[in-house]
Amino acid sequence: MRQRELPLTILVLVLVHTAETCTSRPHITAVEGEPFYLKFCLSSSEQKSKPSTIRWYKSGESHGRVGLNPSSSPRISVHDFSLEFWPIELDDRGTYIFQMGNDTRQWTLNVIRRNKNSCFTEKQVTSKSIEVQKVLTIPCTNSYYQRLINRTTLYKDCEKIAEGDTNPLLQKNAEFKDQGYYSCVFSIHHNGKEFNIIKTFNITIVGDNNNIIPALLGPKLNHVEVELGKDVQLNCSALLNEKDQLYWNFWRENGSDPNVHEEEGMRTRTSEGKWYASKILRIENVNENNLNFSYNCTAVSEGGIDTNSYILLKKAPGADIPGHVFTGGMIIAVSISVVVVCLVIVGVIYRVDLVLLYRRFMGRDETLTDGKTYDAFVSYLKECRPEDGEEYTFAVEILPRVLEKHFGYKLCIFERDVMPGGAVVDEIHSLIEKSRRLIIVLSKRYMCNRVRYELESGLHEALVERKIKIILIEFTPVSDLTFLPQSLTLLKSHRFLKWKADKSLSYNSRFWKNLLYLMPAKTVKPAAGDSEITPVLSAP
Ligand SMILES: *[C@@H]1O[C@H](CO)[C@@H](O)[C@H](O)[C@H]1NC(C)=O
Ligand SMILES: *[C@@H]1O[C@H](CO)[C@@H](O)[C@H](O)[C@H]1NC(C)=O
Ligand SMILES: *[C@@H]1O[C@H](CO)[C@@H](O)[C@H](O)[C@H]1NC(C)=O
Ligand SMILES: *[C@@H]1O[C@H](CO)[C@@H](O)[C@H](O)[C@H]1NC(C)=O
Ligand SMILES: *[C@@H]1O[C@H](CO)[C@@H](O)[C@H](O)[C@H]1NC(C)=O
Ligand SMILES: *[C@@H]1O[C@H](CO)[C@@H](O)[C@H](O)[C@H]1NC(C)=O
Ligand SMILES: *[C@@H]1O[C@H](CO)[C@@H](O)[C@H](O)[C@H]1NC(C)=O
Repeated sequence: MRQRELPLTILVLVLVHTAETCTSRPHITAVEGEPFYLKFCLSSSEQKSKPSTIRWYKSGESHGRVGLNPSSSPRISVHDFSLEFWPIELDDRGTYIFQMGNDTRQWTLNVIRRNKNSCFTEKQVTSKSIEVQKVLTIPCTNSYYQRLINRTTLYKDCEKIAEGDTNPLLQKNAEFKDQGYYSCVFSIHHNGKEFNIIKTFNITIVGDNNNIIPALLGPKLNHVEVELGKDVQLNCSALLNEKDQLYWNFWRENGSDPNVHEEEGMRTRTSEGKWYASKILRIENVNENNLNFSYNCTAVSEGGIDTNSYILLKKAPGADIPGHVFTGGMIIAVSISVVVVCLVIVGVIYRVDLVLLYRRFMGRDETLTDGKTYDAFVSYLKECRPEDGEEYTFAVEILPRVLEKHFGYKLCIFERDVMPGGAVVDEIHSLIEKSRRLIIVLSKRYMCNRVRYELESGLHEALVERKIKIILIEFTPVSDLTFLPQSLTLLKSHRFLKWKADKSLSYNSRFWKNLLYLMPAKTVKPAAGDSEITPVLSAP
């Protein structure tokens, strides 16, 4: 094989060489705007004989035969055996005649428009078919202009894939995705101008010609369980050649069942050029006639045949729940789910009231056995000058009045309960440890060191040691929380209560309910005569 290929390649190269450099075809098409040439093919005897006078003529439709010389057109240059166009234009259509002594030669030249929307012109492509897995070569060579070319670019479907000073060469094993238009663009400099010559190959990849014996996928005999009255689809698929047939055989001696339909097939090509085909047989509303019948799927090619059989079997009864039981069950299940969902929604909305009610009825008290002294440590952001602002009033007057006098909790408030002087930091730490909750009253105010320590110490216990729960009360709207320790933002949002001066006044308001909910459960002994709804804040 190799030994025969080599002389053939050399022969092709020789042919290409001479054929490319001189113009032997009598009818030629060129694309406007590209450099172009006509060259007389000199026989070897003529090369030896003494030179005679050489003339070039153009014969147009209107003005007869016109001699061509270097002054005819700046674009056209006349050499002995060749005529060059820099570049060729639509006007250059016509017949060109070469005359040397008694010897003449003529060409008919057609010039076509360039396709402005594409990198190549469709009418000027060389088509080639290549078998998949065989060698695909795109040779970007141009022997006539070889010396003038200083850049060659190779495009596939107008996308650059290679570039080089010399000839970029594409050589690979062909795959189907290699199909497309390959354009070699040669850049040529002539008289200070740049020209492009484009040569385009239309490459089609075809499957190989070796046929396979078609093969159906899956077992030869298939039993398919069906329920009477339902639809069933039988899917038959096969690996086969392009021209092979795949079909279902569902005919009886006396015709076909009206509920059996063969659907349009689907085909996809494999990378080796073969085809995966599949075809569906659809049986609607399966009845007794469809049982125990062999539905056969067959693939046929010149080289062979393959068949798979499908038999429908009635699904064993008993596996299913009877219809009315099923429907009844569904209704009950749906009703129960609806009730549960409603309960959950009510529970979420009235969670706080429900929990408070539950605590009251059960007399729950979680404060008896944990060995802590206070129900809550109250921390508030304040300017370091004490006894100043509304936060002070809220933290030192309102909170104790409601939580201690009305609901029977015991609070620890630094300003009130701790004697000035002493080791403040240690003291705060031990007080927080003795408290069940840490109530932080947030406001816009500046925060002094001591409060920061309270905050951080409490947060550490809450978030790291999980000993104390935090309740945040937003006393005035805080838009910028950046001055707070980062860990505050980790708190769950339901532990965030908003104080609304107008709405939160009454003991029965949502604010106090939510606060009680977050406080530990404790058996409450409301102070006598104070159980009515009374304003918490005295009107200013
Ligand atoms: C050209 O042809 C004429 C007559 O046909 C002949 O006499 C002459 O020798 C030829 N010239 C050449 C160079 O062959
Ligand atoms: C390219 O080749 C394919 C397949 O041979 C053909 O269908 C198509 O028309 C060709 N395109 C051009 C522009 O010649
Ligand atoms: C191509 O060749 C011309 C003339 O030889 C030169 O002026 C030009 O710079 C070259 N361009 C490139 C890209 O090499
Ligand atoms: C049939 O089977 C083939 C191969 O298993 C699959 O590619 C195709 O999508 C199937 N058709 C349907 C409609 O399920
Ligand atoms: C399907 O094939 C089986 C066995 O090859 C055969 O007995 C049966 O008659 C075939 N059915 C049809 C509908 O051709
Ligand atoms: C064909 O014959 C079978 C019994 O052999 C019968 O059940 C069926 O209805 C017949 N079909 C037609 C279309 O006559
Ligand atoms: C179908 O085949 C099964 C077993 O092959 C057999 O028991 C049953 O009687 C058959 N039914 C009909 C309607 O032929």
